[in-house]
Amino acid sequence: MAEKIQAIRGMNDILPDTSHQWLFFEHTVREWLKDYGYKNIRTPIVEDTRLFVRSIGEATDIVEKEMYTFTDSLNGDSLTLRPEGTASCLRAALQHNLLYKQTQRLWYIGPMFRHERPQKGRYRQFHQIGAEALGFSGPDVDAEIVIMLADLWQRLGLTPYLQLQINTLGSSEERAAHRQALIAYLEQHQEALDEDGKRRLYTNPLRVLDSKTPSMQAICEQAPRLLDYLGDASRQHYDEWRQMISDANIPYVENPRLVRGLDYYNLSVFEWVTQELGAQGTVCGGGRYDGLIEQLGGQSIPAVGFAMGVERLMLLLGEKNLLPAADVPDWFVIHQGEGTARYALRVAQQLRQAGLRVVQHMGEASFKSQMKKADASGAYGAVIIGANEVAEHNVVLKPLHGGLPQQTAAFAEVATAARTLLQQIQAQKETD
Ligand code: HAM
Repeated sequence: MAEKIQAIRGMNDILPDTSHQWLFFEHTVREWLKDYGYKNIRTPIVEDTRLFVRSIGEATDIVEKEMYTFTDSLNGDSLTLRPEGTASCLRAALQHNLLYKQTQRLWYIGPMFRHERPQKGRYRQFHQIGAEALGFSGPDVDAEIVIMLADLWQRLGLTPYLQLQINTLGSSEERAAHRQALIAYLEQHQEALDEDGKRRLYTNPLRVLDSKTPSMQAICEQAPRLLDYLGDASRQHYDEWRQMISDANIPYVENPRLVRGLDYYNLSVFEWVTQELGAQGTVCGGGRYDGLIEQLGGQSIPAVGFAMGVERLMLLLGEKNLLPAADVPDWFVIHQGEGTARYALRVAQQLRQAGLRVVQHMGEASFKSQMKKADASGAYGAVIIGANEVAEHNVVLKPLHGGLPQQTAAFAEVATAARTLLQQIQAQKETD
């Protein structure tokens, strides 16, 4: 036998036993985004590598070591599988002039690619649903985004399991002043830094504070705080944002160490975190990135957005039993005998046209084995067609749940009869 080829490590299939749960989640999210006036945008999975280097930042983990970058063998261009959606969304908005004298609320869904070490909740191909509000300077829209996410968690039943963490990163000048102070401070403690810390001291000192190394915790705690370097405008933005979140009765914690893993942020940043998923507990992250559009060749246009990790949310929803059961057909059509397949196709289509969900057995098999398949499908009832039914132009409707008796229905009335009986079966099943 030929060797079976496997999926790439860290890249998962979503199989029929769980795909209905993804569809449920995506449906809920789509309706929610519509309620807040966001419009869908779809961009390619592959982009010019420079797009991500310029936006996410050269000294970030993503750009340093996690991008799937390759050379287009036809023309030598450097291409990258997108590690996130913001850069692509902005590239498209600029390329198609979507920001000319107007604001945009955009959302996207799709696979992202990062070459990380796979573990529960962390994959190499994962899915994000993200939204970007372009052309708004906030803090009202920063608050709207938090309020909107809190609403989604409510709709999904996740509110008790998620904590909102917020921080402000100030302006680039404020960050530069803080950065200088931080580098000077870390230089004094150089001997205590781990390898990553030493490497990042000059390239990305804020990320040094993100370290999980126990021996560095005290040094990180005592480090100069960005908050102390903020000017009045940044402070006011932060205060107003917090006030609006409080007005909406959304609990939050301030986390001065929250810096996010991408370089483009300023002012408001936030993450929604759960304790229920182990190390990969951040299910959604985002913030303001007022300088990015200009950095990508556009005007100076303020913007804010977020992305959620679909796999992590699916894990959490699954652990808390918040996902729907598998879809089942209303009716399963079985048939045996000369001419019954043709008749069954007509019956099944009539039922579907009346709004019913119908699966028909294909090919020849005994009634007994077809009945087993009908049971296994989870259908509410079976439509049984033998030579007699074809001759008499009717069908037998047999409930598979609730103990109701079977009945015969004329071909012309099959849809009405099947619908009425389905309601009775469903009602009966509920009281069982
Ligand atoms: P991010 O924090 O890098 O932000 O990713 C957002 C979310 O994607 C994370 O909170 C996490 O749930 C999920 N995620 C990230 N990496 C993985 C992975 N390897 N496996 C599974 N899930 C993962 C961004 O990507 C920004 N573009 C968000 C944003 C939009 N900021 C402003 N607008």
